[in-house]
This record gives sequence, structure tokens and C-alpha cells, in this order.
Amino acid sequence: MAFNNLDTLYRQVIMDHYKNPRNKGSLADGSLTVDMNNPTCGDRIHLTMKVEDGKVTDAKFEGEGCSISMASASMMTQTIIGQNVEQAMKLSQIFSEMIQGNDYELDDSVDLGDIEALQGVSKFPARIKCATLAWKAMEKGLAEQK
Ligand code: FES
Repeated sequence: MAFNNLDTLYRQVIMDHYKNPRNKGSLADGSLTVDMNNPTCGDRIHLTMKVEDGKVTDAKFEGEGCSISMASASMMTQTIIGQNVEQAMKLSQIFSEMIQGNDYELDDSVDLGDIEALQGVSKFPARIKCATLAWKAMEKGLAEQK
């Protein structure tokens, strides 16, 4: 099966994040910490975030998982650092709609960046949980700190 140029580009972006993860590691004590796993495969993520004055100032992740889950975690941390909590939650909702193949609205305040590379996952329902693992961890952590 031939892939079009956009599919090829998206695959390259995903593999780049998988092989060269951004924000890999763990923040020091005092940060928000969330551990979550994908019950269907046991893969896991350990996410730490620092929130100051309502803004996510840093985020790091560790874990084990497939290329989709780890690339998505890398993209997620890259995207939320510097965002305020509401904006990070909004991005997570947009991501959730995108990954399920639903319509979603973007306004000028939203820049999906590399995240768009994961939109093809919507064609593979079994992989949606892989892509959303890190985002659900982020939402859980930010919801609990309120
Ligand atoms: Fe486990 Fe994707 S197969 S997170």
C-alpha cells in the first residue's frame, strides 16, 4: 500500500518523537505526579509536572510503551509547557476529539504543532488508548491540583 506524502511526513514526526523523546525524565519532589497505565497492554507512564501561578512551567515523563504512546507523551509535554492550566485542558479535549476522528474547533489561541501527526491514529481504534494515555495522565494531574 502506498502512503501519500502527508502520511510519510506524519510517520517521520511520530518516529522522531519516539526515538528522540522531548522532556524525558522526572521532575524533583514537589511536582505533580501521575502514574497511569494502559490496561489493555500494561504499558505505563510516569508524568511529573510543575504548575506555578496557574501555568504549566515544566513537564517530564518516563514510561514504557509502544511508539504511538511514547511519541504522544513527548508531544504532549512539548505542547503544554508554557500553557496555563485551562489551555492545557482545552488542548487535551481537542486532542481527544481529533484522535477519535470527530470534528474539532481551533481558534487562534490553539497551535496543535506536532500533535497533528497523530490524527491518522483515528483510523485504528485499537491504538486510540495508546495515543491518549499521556493526555489522560496530564488531565488527571491538573484536575487534582485545582
Ligand atoms: Fe501499549 Fe500502545 S500497545 S500503549
